[in-house]
Formats: sequence, C-alpha cells, structure tokens
Amino acid sequence: MVENNLSAASIGNTLRSALLSGMIREEDTSAILYDLSYLESRIKHLTSCFPENTLHGIAIKANPLVRILEFMKGIAPNIGAEAASIGEVTMALKTGYRPDQIVYDSPVKTMQELEFALKTGLHINVDNLSELNRVAMIYQSRSANVTSTGSVGLRINPQIGLGTILESSVAGEYSKFGVPLRHQRAQLEQAFLTHAWLTGVHLHVGSQGCPMEMLVDGIGALYDFTMVVNAKRRNANLHAIDVFDIGGGLPVAYNTISAIPSMEEYVGKIRRRAPQLFNTTVFKLITEFGRWTCTNAGWTVSRVEYVKHDQSINTAMLHVGADLFLRECLNPKDWHHQYTLFDREGRIKEGKDVNLWNLAGPLCFSGDMLAKEVCLPPVEEGDYLVIHDSGGYTFSMWSRYNSRQTPRIIGYREDRFEILKERETLEELLGFWE
Ligand SMILES: Cc1ncc(COP(=O)(O)O)c(C=O)c1O
Repeated sequence: MVENNLSAASIGNTLRSALLSGMIREEDTSAILYDLSYLESRIKHLTSCFPENTLHGIAIKANPLVRILEFMKGIAPNIGAEAASIGEVTMALKTGYRPDQIVYDSPVKTMQELEFALKTGLHINVDNLSELNRVAMIYQSRSANVTSTGSVGLRINPQIGLGTILESSVAGEYSKFGVPLRHQRAQLEQAFLTHAWLTGVHLHVGSQGCPMEMLVDGIGALYDFTMVVNAKRRNANLHAIDVFDIGGGLPVAYNTISAIPSMEEYVGKIRRRAPQLFNTTVFKLITEFGRWTCTNAGWTVSRVEYVKHDQSINTAMLHVGADLFLRECLNPKDWHHQYTLFDREGRIKEGKDVNLWNLAGPLCFSGDMLAKEVCLPPVEEGDYLVIHDSGGYTFSMWSRYNSRQTPRIIGYREDRFEILKERETLEELLGFWE
C-alpha cells in the first residue's frame, strides 16, 4: 500500500536540507522536486495490481523529463511509454524504450509518421476510420517497405458520459477522439472483419474528474463489443483481438482529505466486469496511467518575492503561475492544490492569518493567479510556498509567455539529491526565440 500524498513534514525536511546544502540556491526562485523513492513505490504498486504480461505505457505527456523516463524504465521490465506525438515517440526511443514498449496515440498522425511507426514496430492506436484506411494502404503498398510492423489497435469512444472536468473528459456522446461505439457500431464491426492485422482495441475515458465507476463502465462497454467481434472474427478464420488498452485516467488525491479509489479497487472492479481481460492466454492488457504515477511524487516550491496588502485582500507574489500551472490558472474551479508555507530557513509556519491570501504568479495577465482566498499563516517576503502534488501535467505544460527561465528540477531519495534538469540560463531562453 502506498500513501496517497507526501506529507508536509517530509517535504519540510527535504526543503531544509536542499536549502542548507545549496541544492536550492539564491537564484532558484522556484524549483520542482521529485521524491524518487515514492515514485518507484507507486510504479511497483501499479505493476503488482495487474497481470505480469501487461504493458504499462506511462503517459509521457504527464511528465516528459528524460531523466524521469529513464528512471521509470528501470523499475520494471513491463514499464513502457505512451506517446501523444512523434516527438514523444522519439523521446521514448532515445531514452532506451524498445519499440514494442511504446504506444503511439496521437489523433493527428501523418502518413509519414504512420509509415515510420509501422516500420519501427511500435504499438499504434489508430484514432479514426480514415486513419485506419491509411494504415491499410501502407500494409498494401510494397513501396512502403514495411518489414517490422508492430501491432495496431483502434481507439473506440465507449460513449458512457462526461466526468466533472469537461476539458479532460473524452467519452461523452461526442468526442474529438476515437470512433463512437454506439453511433458507428456497424462500421466498427466491418473494420474488424476487414483487417486481419487490426488486433487491438483502445479506450481512454478522461483524465481526473471521471469517477472509477465511469472508467469501469467504459471498459465494460468495449469488452462486450470485443467479445462479440471476436466470435465473428473466429468464424471468419481471423486471429482474435488480443490487445486491450484501457488508457489511463484513474484520479489522484490533490489533498490529504479526499476519498480516492485505490488501484487495487479499480483493478478488482475491472476484473469483475470483464473477467476474460485477466486471462493472459486470451488478452494482453495495456495501461496508460500518467497522473496516477507522477503527480503525487512531485512538489513545487516558490520563494515569496513580495507581499501586498489591500484592505482585506492579501497577495503573495510568487515565481510560478500560469507558466507552470496552466490548468489551475485558466480553469480554477476544477483544479485545487494544497499549499504549505515555510520560512526562509524552511521551517513550517503555523497559524492562520486573519485575512485570506491570493497566490499570484509573475505573468502579465490578471488570471495568472494560482489560487484565491487561501487560508495561510501570515506570509512574509522571503518565505517559501510549497505547492503539493505537482509532479504531473505541470512542467509538461510549461508556457513561454513572458519568457521566464524554467526552474531547476531536482530528484531525491531520502537526503541524496540529483539535478534532473538544470535551471534554464538566459542564453538558452533566448535560443528558444531564435
Ligand atoms: C490517450 C490518453 N491516454 C492516457 C492519458 C493519461 O491520463 P492520466 O494521466 O489521467 O492517467 C491521456 C491523458 O489525457 C490520454 O489522452
């Protein structure tokens, strides 16, 4: 069993040690830290919940740091990578993931990218029926010289509804992703009876905000479809569909009080709804968890550069805002972190200020506000504010607006630190715009 979140006390110990040792320096106005032991324990826990032949394609988009990708690959032989673009595919290959450990999922793959993926031997999840025709053309075309083919699945939208966060829900009646199961069932069955090489199915219901039951319903709907199609494929002497990709999306706790489903509960429910998926002679499962693996292992610290007092509103001026916390700033009703305040030596500050605090970022628009009306101890210049549970979908969404340097990113195990990515220099920053 792994804890849902890192505690403020353990983060405080690491912060003090990072300040004392100079790992966080004067110029590190902000930094992102990863507890690598915790990350390892989460990934081990994930692999222990599924059959051994499962491929866990960790969603690169949640955390594309090369050092983290390398680290995760070393934890278990069935850790793979889910890539949302040819760029992410390239990163996974460069980091040493084998082609058969890479799941390629973009909804807008070009012909060239499809040819490359098939030749390289990735597992491709085709997004729509036009893309499927392109793959068929490649298979038929001699000039494409497809020597190694990998495997091919089709993304199907199970149409089971939307979660609480519309922007990250993708299994409603309408979705820009996949082929809708109810609206296009006949075309889907036809596709699976036409293409012998189409041996996989794929779904992804949404990311955060989708209750576990909704995720299980989606898997159940696709499972029922797959069993029916497999009977028809067998009758037609075609190899059965044997790759079932359940996507990611299991929500995580962004605070210590939320009741959040565990991975065991989730897997138990899938097993009861779709038992054959766990028969390893029938199916190979693929998972694509991103948020669940990375988010709770990382935290961000920003120095409070200034404090402002205006009637009953206090504002702490920070070094991170919408550049690192895009979703939190643009969609504040759905994304909430826990915050802890430390003094300049890294000692936790206790108590409650009489007024609430707005946490403002450094960018030039008023929506650059991490959170409003947060209850904190009195904040002073030079304090450190920690934003908990920020290891996923934060640095991967970094915005170049206002051209601020990316922070130093640090990994640690107990008190041993390593730099995962150095703070960007001004020269490197200029290079982006040249
Ligand atoms: C196709 C696909 N797979 C996996 C994921 C990862 O989702 P999560 O990080 O919530 O597990 C996403 C996220 O948007 C996705 O679009």
